[in-house]
Amino acid sequence: MHETIPSPFEAPARSVLRQAAHQAVKAPSIHNTQPWRFVVADNRLDIAVDGTRRLDVLDPRGRQLMISCGCALLNARVAIAAQGYEPVVERCSSVDVNNVVARLRLGAERPAGREAELNQAIERRRTNRRPFRGEGVSIAEVARLNGLAQTEDADLVNISTDEERRLVAELLAKASRLEAEDPAYLRELLAWTTDDPDRQDGVHASTVPFAGGAGQSGAGTAVRRFDLHGTGWLPSAAPLTEECVLLLCTAEDGPDAWLRAGEALELVWLELTAIGLSASPIGQVVEVRGTRDRMRRELGLRGYPQLVLRVGRALAPPSSRRRSPSDVIVEM
Ligand SMILES: Cc1cc2nc3c(=O)[nH]c(=O)nc-3n(C[C@H](O)[C@H](O)[C@H](O)COP(=O)(O)O)c2cc1C
Repeated sequence: MHETIPSPFEAPARSVLRQAAHQAVKAPSIHNTQPWRFVVADNRLDIAVDGTRRLDVLDPRGRQLMISCGCALLNARVAIAAQGYEPVVERCSSVDVNNVVARLRLGAERPAGREAELNQAIERRRTNRRPFRGEGVSIAEVARLNGLAQTEDADLVNISTDEERRLVAELLAKASRLEAEDPAYLRELLAWTTDDPDRQDGVHASTVPFAGGAGQSGAGTAVRRFDLHGTGWLPSAAPLTEECVLLLCTAEDGPDAWLRAGEALELVWLELTAIGLSASPIGQVVEVRGTRDRMRRELGLRGYPQLVLRVGRALAPPSSRRRSPSDVIVEM
């Protein structure tokens, strides 16, 4: 990836913050929309939402847009810590006039701990839409991931009993069916899926299971049916089986909580990558209001479900494209 060479005259903090912005660009985002911009200055890095990239049909409230920006923020925090500084974060309560959602500065110098490994995992973290291999995820691993989510004000609920799995699978199938019946949803999905090798955003055919194109029934598979073009490169997706299924929840349900949910999601995702696991988010069941409400009620959740995560062991998933850093990072 293209990196800007630091000038000998610039403030030393600037190159640390620039490097953090480069790591932030690699974050996951809903439909790979990359709905962000970064402003690097001598003493701060601002992360702003790019509202033109919000999914109006799927995400009219900008919930998943904010989660995506939270993922970018977490990458930037990890990158600053990995370079030996305490990341100081000011989260902007709701979005300010410049659409800035968070401002990062360098705090005290301190040796990098676990963040150094998490920083390396940023490059390897990918969405796995293939089936998982047999060996499951241990209870200790799930507890460790939940412990990390809690440090970011979120919870990872383990959907572990047969009854809970049946409920989530049933609601997921219902949500997927309702979405697939909505022509506006399909139009938007079509616009954000591609097999163009030069396109730098959207979900590419090389990363999705073959599903036979538009008009085919996808009900029952856990992975979102991205393959409306009938060009998916991966083996067909399976229903939710014995996989480890985790539900990311937050106590509140507004922009601040969504940003924190994104930070929790990415921290968990980097950690599970670092320990040899992989994951894919499943959004459908929390995107449809009726199935989200039912899941909350019938699982007896106190908080608000934000995203389902399938977690397991799998072959290294194919990588996805990003817009060039020069398109999203502005130097001031
Ligand atoms: C908030 C959010 C929701 C997502 N929902 C889904 C989903 O429902 N299905 C899916 O397969 N991937 C989902 N993803 C993964 C993105 O499609 C993925 O991050 C993006 O295509 C970039 O690919 P990468 O994660 O391999 O870098 C989601 C990601 C985020 C941040």
